[in-house]
Amino acid sequence: MTIPVHYLEKLPGEAEFYETYWNKKALVVKNGVPGSVMNGLIEADELAGLSLEEDVRSRIVKNGPTQNDWTCDHGPFGEEIFDALGEENWSLLVQNVERYHLPTKNIIDPFLFSPCWLIDDVMVSYSTPGGGVGPHLDSYHVFLVQGTGKRRWKIGRVAIDNEQFIDNIDLKILKDDFEGDVFEVENGDVIYIPPKFPHKGETLEEGLTFSIGFLGPSLSELFVEYGQYIEEQDQINSRYEGHALNILSAGNQIAGQEVDNFRDTLKGAIDSEHFDKWLRGYFANKDDY
Ligand SMILES: [Fe+2]
Repeated sequence: MTIPVHYLEKLPGEAEFYETYWNKKALVVKNGVPGSVMNGLIEADELAGLSLEEDVRSRIVKNGPTQNDWTCDHGPFGEEIFDALGEENWSLLVQNVERYHLPTKNIIDPFLFSPCWLIDDVMVSYSTPGGGVGPHLDSYHVFLVQGTGKRRWKIGRVAIDNEQFIDNIDLKILKDDFEGDVFEVENGDVIYIPPKFPHKGETLEEGLTFSIGFLGPSLSELFVEYGQYIEEQDQINSRYEGHALNILSAGNQIAGQEVDNFRDTLKGAIDSEHFDKWLRGYFANKDDY
């Protein structure tokens, strides 16, 4: 038997958050963000305005009568598109809103107990009644803060490993239903969802949802970024010189011992104080949350 998603009256303390929820369990908090923070955030018409701009990442998701009717269009959009959308069953999602509308960054203030150095962006969605992005899961941690309007969420109790998506649509919508609990949220309510936990939101009254997403670097990003740092530091950017070669590496052969030497060189570069310095700098130089 699985344990239902917890419903709290206030945000958990730091210790409780990491022990019980981070990466382990979804959470719903009634009125987790005070009105003083909610009031200064971006509003729907400003959000629509952002989606007209060339360098802003935005999407419009429409849902039809059946699950296979989901569509997703990418911005920038022309103003006329909003007249054609109607009053139901669509959402506008805009990424990195905190960069374009600075007061929206204040949404992070109540979450300083979270690992802010991992925050990727604040995405804001405007959604009409019936609108939503369908049952899905994400590869990142997220706090969802409801702004104006009302939304009904179904939230999974456990992570899903062998997810199946609906074929031939431009969105990763889950094929099958999932075990979960249903909550209605309104202004200031907070949901925390760990990676791979299925969830589905449906808008009851038009409004805004603020998503604070936490996304770590991939292994390849770590190698590329650290490699770039090494390249800029002459004193550590040594070149391989083949000091220990012997007959086993003649011609086009590379001896197993030599592969180990390369591996040791790479390990040495990581097992050094330069790596610590770079890693801290790497996260500090991301947008400063
Ligand atoms: Fe999601």
